[in-house]
Amino acid sequence: NGSLLATPAVLGASGDLAKKKTLPALFSLFRLSLLPKNSRIIGYARTKMDDKEFHGKFADNLKDGKDGEKEEFLKICNYVPGAYDQDDAFQNLNKEIEKKEKEIGSKEPQRLFYMALPPNVFTVVAAGLKKNCYAEKGHNRIVIEKPFGKDLESCQEMMGELKKLWKEEETFRIDHYLGKEMVKNILLMRFANPFVEAGLNNQLVDNVQITFKEPFGTEGRGGYFDEFGIIRDIQQNHLTQVLSLLTMERPATFSAENIRDEKVKVLKNVPAIKEEDVLIGQYSAANGKPGYKDDDTVPKDSNCPTFAALALWVNTPRWQGVPFILKAGKALDEGKVEIRIQYRDQGKGLFEEIPRNELVLRIQPEESIYAKISNKKPGLESSLVPVELDFKYNARMTDYRSPEAYETLILDALKGEHSSFVREDELNESWRVYTPLLHAIDAGKIKNEKYEYGSRGPQSLNHFIGKYGYDRRGME
Ligand code: BG6
Repeated sequence: NGSLLATPAVLGASGDLAKKKTLPALFSLFRLSLLPKNSRIIGYARTKMDDKEFHGKFADNLKDGKDGEKEEFLKICNYVPGAYDQDDAFQNLNKEIEKKEKEIGSKEPQRLFYMALPPNVFTVVAAGLKKNCYAEKGHNRIVIEKPFGKDLESCQEMMGELKKLWKEEETFRIDHYLGKEMVKNILLMRFANPFVEAGLNNQLVDNVQITFKEPFGTEGRGGYFDEFGIIRDIQQNHLTQVLSLLTMERPATFSAENIRDEKVKVLKNVPAIKEEDVLIGQYSAANGKPGYKDDDTVPKDSNCPTFAALALWVNTPRWQGVPFILKAGKALDEGKVEIRIQYRDQGKGLFEEIPRNELVLRIQPEESIYAKISNKKPGLESSLVPVELDFKYNARMTDYRSPEAYETLILDALKGEHSSFVREDELNESWRVYTPLLHAIDAGKIKNEKYEYGSRGPQSLNHFIGKYGYDRRGME
């Protein structure tokens, strides 16, 4: 008894997500036999085209297929054109889905609607699907991805509309960082290793930095980006998710609800960000690369931040007093995402100056975990040298592959497993933390500092992180 996968993967003007992520992830699952071989995938969008033209849009993005796998996969991908706001179009889609279900003899339909859509049509499509494409028996699931509004109020409004149509257990809100290998590792690593967990508290930790760096700018999507800015793009969702996994208390079990209860609990202890705890920046032309405002789709007077460093405070007994610095920026000197936990000074009186211990979880590009420690320099004298305890995935483990975030997430959604999806109350708590700051920036009350394309960020960054105790001695 096969399951049917109906995927209104939207191509056309805004179909980048489907072409680059959703369909290639489905292909990977297909190759790994994690998608039942008799599944059917349906692309749905406004553009009129036939199956062949549809395949032409994404076939080049299907990677690593062995002989014939790609062709096999394309055979199960059909296309249905239709509007986003018309019942008869959705009824047509429903007929197609039912036809496929008959073909594969599915008694209990498993319908997954992946909305790779721009936010202005989320609600209308969710309504059209519910009304016309909802299977009475079996499962109906809807997958959506940010932007979930622009602040607390608009998010609540959007979620309120969706909730009238789709139940919480049918709704899968993607934050693709929750599908990344190292992010999925955080809870396992913390609660399986007593010495790691015992070191995560304000007795030992001085400060924590969660950093996202990209070496390219917003070229090509400046107009879109300008409406949101880096804080809505990265910190409010991706980095806040990482923060909650790192700071939450032990869940009773790894069930989705137990995990998410703890994430919400810890977020409730994070006060709204204060304006003095913020540094924002915007990149300017340098090294032959264009500045943010050189993009024609960006308003010339834009105050939109492309870089932000924010200090957040987690007022639980465990974390009280430890600053969490969430940094994110485009057009920087490198591409890197990591968590860096810096420990308190140690050994005063016994030693001169020694670098602090650090525990680093590198999320990308190459997953690794390393700890910086001080060790006796081998030899006849008695002095210390900083060294690293180093676990690089690709050096230590052969025959492993980190799945793409979207593979993991789509597989979970197919199984109805919610732990790596964002619950509505998590979203609300996160928006509560960011909304006052975002409004202040939107109103022009906080000004951007310029930084050069390809640099480390605004010049005052070192001063900013220094204020929160971050010590760069180990870095140079
Ligand atoms: C997206 C942001 O959510 O994440 C993009 O909208 C950003 O601006 C992307 O480039 C980064 O994702 P990853 O997986 O490449 O780190």
